[in-house]
Amino acid sequence: MFDALVGKQLRSTQLATARGNLWEGAVRSSKTISSIMVWLRYIRTGPPGALLMVGKTERTLKRNIIDVIVSMVGVRRCRYKAGAGEVIIFGRTIYVAGANDERSADKIKGMTLAGAYCDEVTTFPESFFSMLGTRLSVAGAQWFGTTNPEGPNHWLKKKFLDRARLHVRRDGSEVTSQDPKALDLHRFSFSLNDNPYLPPAYVENLKLEYQGLFYKRFVLGEWCLAEGVVYDMFDESTHIVDTLPTMRRWMAVGLDYGTINPFAALLVGVGEDDRLYVASEYRHDSRTARRQLTDAQYSRGMQNWLGTYAHDGVEGVQPEWIWVDPSAASFMTQLWADGVPGVAKAQNDVKDGIRSVSVAFGANLLHVHRSCTGLIEELPSYAWDDKAAAAGEDKPMKVNDHSADALRYALHSSAYEWRGLLRTDLQEAA
Ligand SMILES: Nc1ncnc2c1ncn2[C@@H]1O[C@H](COP(=O)(O)OP(=O)(O)OP(=O)(O)O)[C@@H](O)[C@H]1O
Ligand SMILES: [Mg+2]
Repeated sequence: MFDALVGKQLRSTQLATARGNLWEGAVRSSKTISSIMVWLRYIRTGPPGALLMVGKTERTLKRNIIDVIVSMVGVRRCRYKAGAGEVIIFGRTIYVAGANDERSADKIKGMTLAGAYCDEVTTFPESFFSMLGTRLSVAGAQWFGTTNPEGPNHWLKKKFLDRARLHVRRDGSEVTSQDPKALDLHRFSFSLNDNPYLPPAYVENLKLEYQGLFYKRFVLGEWCLAEGVVYDMFDESTHIVDTLPTMRRWMAVGLDYGTINPFAALLVGVGEDDRLYVASEYRHDSRTARRQLTDAQYSRGMQNWLGTYAHDGVEGVQPEWIWVDPSAASFMTQLWADGVPGVAKAQNDVKDGIRSVSVAFGANLLHVHRSCTGLIEELPSYAWDDKAAAAGEDKPMKVNDHSADALRYALHSSAYEWRGLLRTDLQEAA
């Protein structure tokens, strides 16, 4: 099942001799496989003492790493004890931990470690990673980690990667830092070319799955800044339509709640042509309307909007889901009390949501009806926050983002309903 390591994969296993060793770059570029090989060797030949494996959560660690190790060495040599916080590999007991919040540093506070394996390091709080450094106090202790790129100002990039003593770059060249203050850290930058085991069709599909900023980071492997327009793949001439096809189903409404700020809801359907359409928008801006609405009035307004929306000679639609801004608890209660069906909390992971919308636009799967003027106005100016990016955090500016948020809620919360519709040929056809 596992073929011999080749090229940079092999080279990285030979060069993983520093105190810290980090594989970073494109998705599926074989960072995990290469680093696991080194970790398995370390478990057998590294200094005695406690070992630790860390992921964003214990669950992701199990899925991304421990399951892979099991498939490589068999369950007898890698036994995961869920609940006990341990995995036994080659007879050696290894602690496992999740590092998903600021308190996680406490979990390892008193430990003395001889080695650590870290999955998805950029998702760790910096406090956890610093604490880990102080815990690796056994002589000769090493750590090994993998990550996909983030912004250039992310703490891992600025404080660690940029100061590595050895850098094996994406093109395979090896650079040794002359800086006497360089860290005892070896950095391996991987690109998709470093994984010859991926079928070409799979790579084509990856390019569809990651658009805009996410393409640069996850496919090209660049630590690039989140700057400018968020949906830079949105193109009015391609993505705005004047007519709508017959709909197979009304998949979702996405709803961003506001009382002083605008309230925006979008109706999304799946057309006969297997594309997604934002068919209609309900928006109330209390500033321009000079009138604030109560939750009960909003609820009636929404029901009226959906009840009178006419398409293909049919009046009234009933969307399968109404995804509501999760912070609008009182409004959700109102909708439930009014017996509106399909109401649920929207998924509110901003970056993942933006990725979903980017994929849908970038693959030309998603179109917007010209009547959705609030959304059409917002999309070209919905931009990344420069100040946040400078501080190493990616987030969009919180201005004129109401219909944009509604779209994110609708698409991301229903992503499992439409991801199967992504096709490489839609892009060329547009
Ligand atoms: N030497 C190899 N033999 C067999 N399969 C391999 C080899 N190298 C890579 N692969 C396969 O390529 C795929 C991607 O590798 P891997 O999971 O290590 O990538 P990654 O860089 O960690 O990706 P991600 O960023 O998505 O976590 C895996 O399914 C893996 O099984
Ligand atoms: Mg990986």
